[in-house]
Amino acid sequence: MSAIATAFSNLVRSFVNQDSPEQPKRAPKDEEFQTLREMYQNAGQGHVFAFADELSTDEKTQLFHQILSTEPSWINKLADESINPKPKTEQAAAVLEPLPESVTASIIDSDPADLKSWFDIGLKEVSLNRVAVVLMAGGQGTRLGSSAPKGCYDIGLLSEKSLFQLQAERIRKLQELAQKVHGVEEAIIPWYVMTSGPTDAPTKEFFAKNKYFGLSQSNVHVIEQGTLPCISNEGKIMLESKHKVAMAPDGNGGIYKALITSGARENMRTRGIQHIHVFGVDNCLVKVADPIFIGFSISKGVDVATKVVRKRDAAESVGLVMLKNGKPDVVEYSEIDQETREAIDPKQAGVLKFRAANIVNHYYSFGFLDTIPQWMANLPHHVARKKIPCINPENGEAVKPTTPNGIKLEQFIFDVFPMIPLEKFACLEVRREEEFSALKNARGTGEDDPDTSRADIIKQGQRWVENAGAVVITDGEAFGVEVSPLISYTGENLEFLSGREIKAPAILEREE
Ligand code: UTP
Repeated sequence: MSAIATAFSNLVRSFVNQDSPEQPKRAPKDEEFQTLREMYQNAGQGHVFAFADELSTDEKTQLFHQILSTEPSWINKLADESINPKPKTEQAAAVLEPLPESVTASIIDSDPADLKSWFDIGLKEVSLNRVAVVLMAGGQGTRLGSSAPKGCYDIGLLSEKSLFQLQAERIRKLQELAQKVHGVEEAIIPWYVMTSGPTDAPTKEFFAKNKYFGLSQSNVHVIEQGTLPCISNEGKIMLESKHKVAMAPDGNGGIYKALITSGARENMRTRGIQHIHVFGVDNCLVKVADPIFIGFSISKGVDVATKVVRKRDAAESVGLVMLKNGKPDVVEYSEIDQETREAIDPKQAGVLKFRAANIVNHYYSFGFLDTIPQWMANLPHHVARKKIPCINPENGEAVKPTTPNGIKLEQFIFDVFPMIPLEKFACLEVRREEEFSALKNARGTGEDDPDTSRADIIKQGQRWVENAGAVVITDGEAFGVEVSPLISYTGENLEFLSGREIKAPAILEREE
């Protein structure tokens, strides 16, 4: 190790040991600041300190602490691997096949007896306090364009409930169901909410302000994922301001590291958690801690399972779960040629052969998550080219890009799939209209926006009450019934509406 590298690692160690979240950050001594600066200069990233001489002590301290634990040579390595990936010329084209039937099932054509058995198995595990939920809520939601975290977003339901509230109420309802069915005093589904630098503080404030939506605070853990510097197309670290590096969350694959560094894995171990349901915050229809999915995964004896929905048509631009060179994987739309996209399942007329659309909704056994430290360093980083507001390090002028000007380095949650032996992996196809509606875009886009999210929830509620024998009176734009998750988790418990007329739009709420 060079002298400067040794000085740098001593520096990091001395500050990490001193650092405590409650204490204000200590201002570095001049020589400490200089050591960090030299480390960056040696790595060709000295421009990060371009304005150091004009910064106040406070600003210097902020810059110092922001980048102290980011080793610039590691960023250079990630940048190089991402920007100049090894040429694939000598590799043969990937062999793509659908997952074998032995590892798949579909809610659409499963035997109702199987569905009931899986539900019963899953609910029993909930009653034994062995099921946890990890919510990925660290994304910046740039397309939605809201300054608050996506989970706080009010999609326009009559109740004005946020995505966080809908999920919290589903957890509460499931806990109640498990208590009732299994006669236990308290079923607890701990909820680990993964945030990132930009979403952490507002998420914590939102939960506190809303009294954890009726959940016990001790069972809600907000954990923070890592961030990485944004880099220019030439691999240079970008500056947000003269004393701040432009940072971005390290992708939904950052969940693995976050589970370890936040202590969530140890918390799960202490609680005796065996089964973990993981999904993204932006699916308003998500069946949180779904007993069917948990029971299905347990019955299959797998370490990792994933839910998918049926691809709408050959042209839908979604990643697909399949076998790539014999291993489970998610293959992006752009990686699949037209003939493969349009291929028809020889066993089902008119049904696409490759149809398992990825919805980022996964099951993990605790045993598998326990192995994260053995492989997390091997997960690759991917290039996401984005518009990144920054300053020009040469003159300090603000740059407000209208086209992508830099790179966010992201890990993908599904990059672990190829590591899983096929007999330890399973895939469950679920109904899109019951389980998946993503909030990605700003209102008015007409696709995956707040209006489609709202409509999908109230259409689901309408189906549920009609199945229970109610008659819903609709009129043009007036449709839908919002059924509170506190009344029904998945359409159950609505028999009391049989024969009743309900004028849409309506809301069914539980009095608390
Ligand atoms: P997306 O990739 O759709 O990103 O995340 P996003 O932040 O929601 O939206 P854009 O791309 O900025 O418009 C899919 C899910 O993964 C989570 C998001 O919160 C969302 O639930 N995610 C994404 C993280 O938790 N961390 C990340 O670093 C990235």
